Amino acid sequence: MRIEDRTGTCGKRKRNFMIIAPSILSADFSNLERDINAVVNAGAQWIHVDVMDGMFVPNISIGPVVVKSIRKATRAFLDCHLMIMEPERYIDDFVKAGADSITVHVEATRHLQRILAMIRETGLKSGVSLNPSTPLDSIKYCLGDIDLVLIMSVNPGFGGQTFIDAVLPKIFDTKELLSGRNIQLQVDGGVNKDNIARLARMGVDNVVAGSSIFGTENPSKTIKEMFEIVSSVSR
Ligand code: DX5
Ligand code: ZN
Repeated sequence: MRIEDRTGTCGKRKRNFMIIAPSILSADFSNLERDINAVVNAGAQWIHVDVMDGMFVPNISIGPVVVKSIRKATRAFLDCHLMIMEPERYIDDFVKAGADSITVHVEATRHLQRILAMIRETGLKSGVSLNPSTPLDSIKYCLGDIDLVLIMSVNPGFGGQTFIDAVLPKIFDTKELLSGRNIQLQVDGGVNKDNIARLARMGVDNVVAGSSIFGTENPSKTIKEMFEIVSSVSR
């Protein structure tokens, strides 16, 4: 089954529709299937998987083995955010594990265009991510190889950090850069019920939210509330 058929959303979002991708980094790892089903049943079509190697970022999280298990548990779009050095070493493993998209960091690879093209060749969606201090110019000449741009609104490595407001102008500039192209703008880090409306108004297509969903008593109720906030925003 093709990705678009499974999710109905990648590159085909309805007008005014924002994707909210819950990050399982803040879920209960002893109950991952339960937590994923809770948010998917509440309307989440994407699940964000944070992969960390203890080198590119200070933290270590999960890898392809866990993605393979999650793939069996859900039909949601598996959005794999690789916060690892030289991600080209692991593309095949994530493809085989059942990822739907792979996002790599500009700062983690020497040959960005090559790896983006490599991801595309596998049939997956390719994403590129920028740390808060990384200039937007670094992706200017790779736009033909990208399906998604992920602007980090925290320094990657941990869930539960505060949204860095200084990134707002970069989000604005990215929206402009992507204008007229079929490339999603995703924002990750510190997104919650208080700032999601602002991001929707700025034209952000896709937000990642971890602790503000899984850190609440009722994640399914929380994501529904986030969808309501987003739908009340006219763009
Ligand atoms: C940070 C990760 C995020 C993280 C977001 O390094 O890339 O996806 O899980 O967590 P919150 O939403 O809690 O900031
Ligand atoms: Zn992430």
